[in-house]
Amino acid sequence: MPTNRRSFLRNVALGSGAIASALPNNSYAHAMQNAQAPFNMCGFAAPKLSTVRIGLVGTGSRGTGAIDRLSYIDGVQITALCDKYPKNLEKSQAILNKKGLPAPKTYTGEEGWKALCESNDVDLVYVTTPWHLHTPISVYAMKHGKHAASEVPAAKTIDECWELVETSEKTRQHMMMLENCCYDFFELLTLNMARNGMFGEILHAEGAYIHDLGKDYLLNKTGYSDMWRLKENTGHQGNLYPTHGLGPIAQCMNINRGDKFDHLVSMSTNDFTLAPALQELAANDDFFKPYAGKTYRGNMNTTIIKTDLGKTLMVQHDVSSPRPYSRIHLVSGTKGAAQKYPGPERIALGHSWMKPEELKGMYDKYTPPIVRHIGDIAKNVGGHGGMDFIMDWRLIDCLRNGLPLDQDVYDAASWSSIMPLSEASAINRSKTIDVPDFTRGAWKQNKPHDMTLNGGGTTGVRAVLK
Ligand SMILES: NC(=O)c1ccc[n+]([C@@H]2O[C@H](COP(=O)([O-])OP(=O)(O)OC[C@H]3O[C@@H](n4cnc5c(N)ncnc54)[C@H](O)[C@@H]3O)[C@@H](O)[C@H]2O)c1
Repeated sequence: MPTNRRSFLRNVALGSGAIASALPNNSYAHAMQNAQAPFNMCGFAAPKLSTVRIGLVGTGSRGTGAIDRLSYIDGVQITALCDKYPKNLEKSQAILNKKGLPAPKTYTGEEGWKALCESNDVDLVYVTTPWHLHTPISVYAMKHGKHAASEVPAAKTIDECWELVETSEKTRQHMMMLENCCYDFFELLTLNMARNGMFGEILHAEGAYIHDLGKDYLLNKTGYSDMWRLKENTGHQGNLYPTHGLGPIAQCMNINRGDKFDHLVSMSTNDFTLAPALQELAANDDFFKPYAGKTYRGNMNTTIIKTDLGKTLMVQHDVSSPRPYSRIHLVSGTKGAAQKYPGPERIALGHSWMKPEELKGMYDKYTPPIVRHIGDIAKNVGGHGGMDFIMDWRLIDCLRNGLPLDQDVYDAASWSSIMPLSEASAINRSKTIDVPDFTRGAWKQNKPHDMTLNGGGTTGVRAVLK
């Protein structure tokens, strides 16, 4: 595979105006024809693990939240924690200590995660670090015989996307991107309705990550480590965080499992807020001086993806404009539509949105088994209203019962690839860019993931003190 992968990358790396012309529609597919059929990780089931021993890397705000959630799940043992800064381990250690759970081994320093991945007492490496480490840690974990679960996005470049795919296939270790929005309640309802044909043929969908991170997070010098997220917003364009909006609608449209992304176009506004805000901050606080006078990612990016079956997906990204939160989550088919943002959640099976009592009827009929089984407990444990806990519980339950995971490495790669591909289009006057087929043709046979709890649903939840 490397030759073919590299030739695709070489074309992408030509940059500027060369990108679209260097990628005629079938160039990648043609190169792939001679490739040896790889092992298909879609539907892959690993041997059952009665206890899932977890090593978590990156105990910042997201990592600490994950430790709290995971500590409620039966059959989970948190055996190792790693953070670059020893101080950042303390909150997670305190959570486990307070719950009377065994103290994990700890690793620190810039590359402490390597020893964690090499150790013999970890089955799953759970990655909650800044973005640039997601692929290196996941790949290293798989190469050392561990499953990998990574925060979003799983990869930052097309090269990293392929590295994840090739490593997962070669090692036969799971690589799941932790796209929690796929487990939110309305998203699961619409997915189940889509599977039951309620919207007919889904022809268009929209998703987004529109979240004003400005003062509280992006520009907050104590809000996260090393200002990593602000740094990602300098020197990059396009959609830096596509998967929250894209994951749930891609599942509704059976992407990589009956259809796939074929090509995209992307357009960004200029930046109208970040550079001026940093100029102002730097005038009063030397800490911000290195960030002043830089170019920042345009506020709003809009990317449109066309699929092989002739459908479209629109994805937006804006983390620096003052406006209400939205992931849109619009699904539009030949028989009906659903939309989550702006609220209230709506469903239409004709010209008008349903009345609240009719919507309740849809919830009564189409709430999927996973929500009926664990939804109320998840709301109590918390994590974005419960969706984070549903995701963690399902991941552990699948590993313990030897079931395929709901999201595989092809989902991680294709959803994450929109980050570099949208940038490549947006900086080139919205030129058309092909999306690689990370399944190498297997999307035609791959089946949508099982939404029942068949073969699983056996993992309990511990009554540990909050
Ligand atoms: N899915 C979601 O809803 C959601 C929500 C928030 C954040 N996230 C994701 O979670 C990740 C972490 O975000 P955050 O807000 O917690 O950031 P954070 O800065 O609070 O946490 C990151 C942690 O990683 C540690 N770290 C940095 N370099 C490291 C290294 N070399 N080795 C070990 N640890 C290292 C930092 O010290 C820090 O403790 C990001 O990928 C982010 O996109 C996802």
